[in-house]
Amino acid sequence: MYTELSTVASQEKLNDHTYLLKVKAQKIAKSVKPGQFCNIKVSETNYPLLRRPFSVCYTEDEFIYFMYDIHGVGTKMLSEKKTGDRLNILGPLGNGFNTEGDYDTAVLVGGGIGAAPFPLLTKKLEGKELITFMGARNSGQVIKWGMKNIVVATDDGSAGFHGNVIECFQSEVQNLENKKIRIFGCGPNPMLKALQKVSMNKYDCQLSMESAMACGFGICQGCPIKKSAGEGYYLVCKDGPVFNSDQIIIG
Ligand code: FES
Repeated sequence: MYTELSTVASQEKLNDHTYLLKVKAQKIAKSVKPGQFCNIKVSETNYPLLRRPFSVCYTEDEFIYFMYDIHGVGTKMLSEKKTGDRLNILGPLGNGFNTEGDYDTAVLVGGGIGAAPFPLLTKKLEGKELITFMGARNSGQVIKWGMKNIVVATDDGSAGFHGNVIECFQSEVQNLENKKIRIFGCGPNPMLKALQKVSMNKYDCQLSMESAMACGFGICQGCPIKKSAGEGYYLVCKDGPVFNSDQIIIG
């Protein structure tokens, strides 16, 4: 884990809501795995006080990309950063996706800004058969940057499959029936809960969980998620954010 004073290289708007920030942060860029995250201090003052967690979206040489939507004051301030501005970044944090092992086809299932870790995961899985299911509210919110072989689902039917991304996945998965698949899911909790249900006792499935994360490395105890076996909780920041789908109970 490093703390780096990084420099903003570029900032781009990808669609109605989504931004892509590129920063120079050499040590983190060289060591991060897909599915890990960083905690960013979005301002040089004490407001907002807490760092914000962001999945690492992609890396290229000494640069890291973060993909994010504006949710509140922290992400609004981040969206106003310009080339040359400085950002204090802590990372890489968390465990990341496990891409090793025996499977034929990687199936990426994402909802909205849950797509954030998929470009780096796609890069890591290069050479492997891969299909990506991407869900969004409407065509203006579809994210495709850095992803491959994409099947789009929109809630209002304005692009691709008309329905949510889990329904879309279920309508296509029979085409993969003779393949050994591994699912990588990332998105809002209700989507991940539905994906967990669909995968139960059927598919190898890893889920990247979202949580409010203040410290990012197991100190504040502010990111618990219930274990499915035995008593107690995992910490999303330290034990995750990626879990096998049978490890956890999603609230
Ligand atoms: S964010 Fe502090 S323990 Fe997880």
